[in-house]
Amino acid sequence: MNRNLPKHVKIVEVGPRDGLQNEKQNIDLATKVTLIDELAKAGLTMIETGSFVSPKWVPQMADSSQVFAAIHRVNGVTYSALTPNLKGFEAAMLAGADEVAIFGSASETFSQKNINCSIAESLERFKPVVAAAKARGINVRGYVSCVLGCPYEGDIAPENVARVAKILLDMGCYEISLGDTIGVGTPNATQSMLTAVLEIVPKSAVAVHFHDTYGQALANILVALQLGINTVDSAVAGLGGCPYAKGASGNVATEDVVYMLNGMGITSGIDLTLLAQAGRHVCAKLSINSTSKVANVLAKND
Ligand code: HMG
Ligand code: MG
Repeated sequence: MNRNLPKHVKIVEVGPRDGLQNEKQNIDLATKVTLIDELAKAGLTMIETGSFVSPKWVPQMADSSQVFAAIHRVNGVTYSALTPNLKGFEAAMLAGADEVAIFGSASETFSQKNINCSIAESLERFKPVVAAAKARGINVRGYVSCVLGCPYEGDIAPENVARVAKILLDMGCYEISLGDTIGVGTPNATQSMLTAVLEIVPKSAVAVHFHDTYGQALANILVALQLGINTVDSAVAGLGGCPYAKGASGNVATEDVVYMLNGMGITSGIDLTLLAQAGRHVCAKLSINSTSKVANVLAKND
């Protein structure tokens, strides 16, 4: 057994945000709230609950304030939100978000398409958000997108990922989530990218965020675990997709990650049965199929 493997993994559930933001159909408030409440009951302690971005850019997250107002908060659970600028940060604070995330990119073109500015401009824009958060004692998470490939630029140099990650860390983010936004990465590429990042960012401050487009997410997560990384982002039922990549699927399914961790004797504090139930409920509400292999097997055995 690899001695770097963590004994415990923190899962950051991004389904209510990264998953639902990509759904085209109208999703009522109750469906979002039930999902978040059921995730908390299943033992998730980090739940990305919404996003305070332009409703013109991401209409599905336009009711994030109402979502925050309606959830039944569980002690010990952090309900977080994406905030690209001060306007978003102020709205997140009014809504009662416990934590916020800023999101940059390792790809210039993706940065322009996603947040309408260059990487350098985005980093300047994030500074006042971090300063305002610090002043209120709010933790800030930093995302780097396109760490293993960009839908517009193709391959991304690991050094570019490491550079943006380090800038976000130095700015004051407590954790940097490295996103394979379009799910193109494979294990060797993951290893090279993470090795470059871990040279300048401590592993305790690194999280991985894999979309599962090509079915590589679990293999890539295993590489991250073997490098000692112990924070993994995932979405119940593998919710979501990527608006910028045809055929892209959602984040790796939380059920699949938990099953793998359980099998490896790594704790996560999550009840797989309750988690799978939460996934079944939201899929039924949205009339979509879960992409979680584990959840689909559990459903058959129910
Ligand atoms: P912009 O157009 O350059 O911004 O957009 P602006 O400051 O010029 O404002 C334009 C309009 O947006 C104005 O409204 C502002 O008030 C409004 P108007 O006068 O036209 O009516 N506005 C806002 N409204 C609500 N909340 C705000 C806000 N800010 C401005 N916070 C902006 C720049 C960043 C706002 C825009 O590009 C945007 O909202 N982008 C969001 C993109 C997004 O949410 N993408 C998905 C999340 S990232 C992701 O999924 C990747 C991740 O999962 C990791 C991975 O997988 O790699 C995290
Ligand atoms: Mg994502």
